[in-house]
Amino acid sequence: DELTDFVGPLGVPTVLHEAKHVIGVAGGVGSAPLFPQLRELANRGVDVDVIIGARTKDIMILENEMREVAGNLYIATDDGSYGFKGNACDQINELVKNLNKTYTRVVAIGPMIMMKFVAMLTKELNIPTIVSMNPIMVDGTGMCGACRLKVGDEIKFACVDGPEFDGHLVDFDQAMRRQRMYKTEEGRAMLKLEEGDT
Ligand code: FES
Repeated sequence: DELTDFVGPLGVPTVLHEAKHVIGVAGGVGSAPLFPQLRELANRGVDVDVIIGARTKDIMILENEMREVAGNLYIATDDGSYGFKGNACDQINELVKNLNKTYTRVVAIGPMIMMKFVAMLTKELNIPTIVSMNPIMVDGTGMCGACRLKVGDEIKFACVDGPEFDGHLVDFDQAMRRQRMYKTEEGRAMLKLEEGDT
């Protein structure tokens, strides 16, 4: 088949943090962008553990691939249909607080709400955390303004400056509010009023 359209590269390349012991936290389709990073880190000799979180067993992806790169693979399902019963945060708490595991970096990619709570928890645990803001992107080309977010004191665009950011600096509440508003024409008009033409 002929490739008729191609856009890219967009955003900035992933920085591979060769920390001593990395734990990847994948939620839903977040496994897809997380997997190549973790594989590369593992190839470079980094100790990599992985948590895959899902609502239920049937919607889990890339389990076998993750198993190949992970020193330890932990599965967490909300309904307990597979692996640990609980969400990704419960699993992190279990590993760090109850099993005394130490991690020097977390890479969390999944739904906004998952990344928000993982980042809150890892802030408390003092573990540097990278998140990927791809869920808020729409056109991915820097044109639509959907992926505007606050990171620390700065305004960023996930598809231009990211998608990966320091999870402890991302304003998740604002990003999720914008995500909801961006879905309707009225919401987009409101955002334009609030923020000007960005
Ligand atoms: Fe549209 Fe970033 S996704 S500007």
